[in-house]
Amino acid sequence: MAPSFAAVAATRLGVGLIYGIANVILLIRLFIWDLALTLYNAFAPLLPENRVVPEGRPGAGGLWPQFIPPKDTDSRSCCPMLNAMANHGILPRDGRNITFRDLNTKCRETFNFSPTFCFFVPHYAADMLDRNYWTDKMDLSDLSAHNCIEHDASLCREDTFLNPDQSKPAPHLIKEFLESGTGPGGDITTSDLSRMLGKRRAQSKASNGQYSQAMIHKIFGASNGSTLLTICGGRVKDLYPFLLEERIPDGWQPRIRNPGGLTLAIFQNTVLKVELGIKEEVEDTLRLLHMGSIQEDAKTK
Ligand code: HEM
Repeated sequence: MAPSFAAVAATRLGVGLIYGIANVILLIRLFIWDLALTLYNAFAPLLPENRVVPEGRPGAGGLWPQFIPPKDTDSRSCCPMLNAMANHGILPRDGRNITFRDLNTKCRETFNFSPTFCFFVPHYAADMLDRNYWTDKMDLSDLSAHNCIEHDASLCREDTFLNPDQSKPAPHLIKEFLESGTGPGGDITTSDLSRMLGKRRAQSKASNGQYSQAMIHKIFGASNGSTLLTICGGRVKDLYPFLLEERIPDGWQPRIRNPGGLTLAIFQNTVLKVELGIKEEVEDTLRLLHMGSIQEDAKTK
């Protein structure tokens, strides 16, 4: 006899509830682990500047595997850093069949994010793609599903509405961003990042009829940008190859030198500063719209 509607509904509710509770427990454990690592980092000596990537791993001592630009048939994503890892063969060069667990390990070794961060992000990505973190795989291009994690108003990509191919850098946006630095030697500061993210949001609002930016996507935008301030120290000299060519600069090492890596707790300080610093968004939108209407007026005269 087929199970009744009530029995099927009750089973699904039960499974959903157990899954929800398991996820909450997982997050609580993760945050406790993250706090413990943050505390450890506060006391542990820093790693030497030129020895942040662990011995024996790609990039140790600044020696990165050969950079080979992607072929047309390779899978690439909207994330410049994951693409860079594939371009160096740290992730599979074809960008395909990557386990979420491998993504975790490789991001940790390459960029010195904490194990908690490197678990949290791929786990979140697996959830968003409706896959199992522990057993499933992904292609880099899967990450470009619009409004999943990929979103409008990025620093390095045109909006999907304007260019559906999110796998390639948008050089004019990247150059404008990298030329905006006001730090020593033109490096990018926290306020530069806030200003440029605000500008991108305003531009997208004005030019993209399908613009959308949920709060979670704003936080993703600020978080992705904040990796450039923390892991890359805002140094434009390094950011040019990273963002324009999706290449790891020769001799490069992560700027975060804590042996426990960059924890979620510490990273959130930068993300919050960046997001809260975005003030000019509304003014810029008005200015861009105003400029648009002046141009329209000029055309009709
Ligand atoms: C661990 C797995 C990772 C996943 C699943 C992931 C996912 C993504 C996605 C979906 C985007 C596109 C967001 C947008 O539309 O702007 C993105 C962009 C980006 N990600 Fe990643 N990423 C990962 C690791 C990293 C790491 C390790 C770094 C830094 C070392 C990084 C830095 C960036 C940057 C700088 C951007 C560009 C932001 C922009 O254009 O505004 N990501 N990432």
